[in-house]
Amino acid sequence: MAIYSGIIILLCSGVINGVKASKPNFLLFLADDLGIGDIGCFGNSTISTPNIDRLASEGVKLTHHISASAVCTPSRAAFMTGRYPIRSGMSGHDGGYAVLVFTAVSGGLPPNEITFPKVLKEQGYTTGLIGKWHLGVNCESRNDFCHHPLNHGFDYYYGMPLSITTDCAGSRSSEVHVSYQNKLWFYAQLYFVALVTLAACKLMNLLTVKWKTLIFLSICGISIFMYYFAPYVFYKYWNCILMRNFEVTEQPVDLERSADRLVKESKAFITRNKNGPFLLLVSFLHVHSPHYTSEKFRGKSKHSMYGDNIEEMDWLIGEILDSLDQEDLVNDTVTYFTSDHGANLEITDWSDQVTGSNGIYRGGKGMGGLEGGIRVPGIFRWPGVLPAGTEVDQPTSLMDIFTTVITIGGGQVPQDRIIDGKNILPLMQRLGPHQQHEFMFHYCLDQLHAARWHDVSSGTVWKVHYVLPRFIPEGSGICRGHKVCPCSGKMVVYQVPPLLFNLSNDPSEKYPIPPESTSYGQVLQKTQEAVAAHNLTIGSVPQQLYGSNNRWSPGLQLCCGIFPFCSCNKEDD
Ligand SMILES: *[C@@H]1O[C@H](CO)[C@@H](O)[C@H](O)[C@H]1NC(C)=O
Ligand SMILES: *[C@@H]1O[C@H](CO)[C@@H](O)[C@H](O)[C@H]1NC(C)=O
Ligand SMILES: *[C@@H]1O[C@H](CO)[C@@H](O)[C@H](O)[C@H]1NC(C)=O
Ligand SMILES: *[C@@H]1O[C@H](CO)[C@@H](O)[C@H](O)[C@H]1NC(C)=O
Repeated sequence: MAIYSGIIILLCSGVINGVKASKPNFLLFLADDLGIGDIGCFGNSTISTPNIDRLASEGVKLTHHISASAVCTPSRAAFMTGRYPIRSGMSGHDGGYAVLVFTAVSGGLPPNEITFPKVLKEQGYTTGLIGKWHLGVNCESRNDFCHHPLNHGFDYYYGMPLSITTDCAGSRSSEVHVSYQNKLWFYAQLYFVALVTLAACKLMNLLTVKWKTLIFLSICGISIFMYYFAPYVFYKYWNCILMRNFEVTEQPVDLERSADRLVKESKAFITRNKNGPFLLLVSFLHVHSPHYTSEKFRGKSKHSMYGDNIEEMDWLIGEILDSLDQEDLVNDTVTYFTSDHGANLEITDWSDQVTGSNGIYRGGKGMGGLEGGIRVPGIFRWPGVLPAGTEVDQPTSLMDIFTTVITIGGGQVPQDRIIDGKNILPLMQRLGPHQQHEFMFHYCLDQLHAARWHDVSSGTVWKVHYVLPRFIPEGSGICRGHKVCPCSGKMVVYQVPPLLFNLSNDPSEKYPIPPESTSYGQVLQKTQEAVAAHNLTIGSVPQQLYGSNNRWSPGLQLCCGIFPFCSCNKEDD
């Protein structure tokens, strides 16, 4: 009976229109910090990305593809669960951090969240994640692995549990908690000066303090200082880690060789599972800083280290696509490419002045609702099912991958919780009626900064900004002095009245609609109603990126070798 009704549902939803009988494989590429203006098929004429361009020409290009957040951890949580990150406690909380900052923290994607690989696994898929995770590792002990990919539906994992930062390249300046580190240094120096002064007074017999007391104070000071500073001193060893399943295989990771290894692993996964069905998520370390690029691509692009890194990523994609060709799996595989959010306009690589490009869109990574931080490239290829060389310009979301992949894979979208993603297969196939994103909500941490309304009757897409980052200097497009723009306080401007843009004719968000115009009042009211209704669906859940959940804890530290000098290399290449 269940099978029978399943078939009816499939027939009625039109999913199997032109679809082969057997379950297709999924090959999903997720880039890190890549801007929509950084690749050829989205309009960059000076960067060479032939493999991504080929995917686009053989498939559907999503030109209005929106990530659920402008920073990594929340965007990835939404991608994996098909839900706004605020629903799982993965949005970050005002005043705290926007992402997980260490491997040894207790926060992460809660085990009771349902990811798309988890659902596909039940449908007989072999599921693999190769590359960056950044959604947590442990909850209470160093090997409970409650947030680990293997506990979230993946059968196989090879990659980095956190992210890369310039800190992973020992010699370069830190990217993590810089102002906090500076404060720590300042107090340490103050303490040192005080102790030296005390010792000098004692030597000059101006003070009757015991040497024992001075030694005790020194040891206390050094211990406290070391405890707070250790996570930064040992950052590279404790966080830039390579794992295979539950095992740490390289600590710290050798970034020079990581790209090669990710490709080899991806190709091996495809070959191993060629009899399918499989789901492979390749989550690149590219193009996050630092930009490590192999010799073959170094100095080759027209855009310095950043451009080299993009061109190398494109080559990696080509290598992995070659595996599909060789195994004759192209027509049986749904291939997807995207980036977790827009390019970072604030951080350049240590010795590099080039930042990414978000094309015609304003703003970038970390900027709540501005288009440049959340409009990302999206490409779907499925020969014989999706029309080649076409474009979809209606709003779609990275959260749609969850629902679309589950539906194609024959699974059931969870019914016991709100799922924000929609099945976009009919939209891409240009078949009759399909679900629309009428509204989208754009958060900065847990603060609503903007909302998007796709007025289906007129086809116009509107965007309302309630809060915007304060650019310094004015008009520069960056929050100078910050690694990412803050979400509240003095570095944002609360828009009263809210700013309204017609994205359909002003995608660069340059010309606000005057509040006196008739459309302004109507659009604002309609959007306000939607925001209020959405607000009612947001429950209270534990904050995963805030407070003690995002504080380094020695008991959770992944470590091969002897703590604190965690170091090993079990990669035999
Ligand atoms: C092409 O990409 C490079 C690297 O991101 C960037 O510097 C350049 O401005 C981009 N060009 C365009 C037209 O966006
Ligand atoms: C793959 O599908 C395309 C489009 O339907 C078709 O032209 C091609 O012949 C197919 N290739 C194979 C190997 O079946
Ligand atoms: C918004 O832009 C679209 C595309 O140019 C245009 O057709 C529409 O009239 C505009 N809407 C309003 C109310 O100005
Ligand atoms: C929902 O509305 C309440 C009351 O206005 C507000 O305090 C809260 O921040 C809103 N929640 C979100 C997620 O915007």
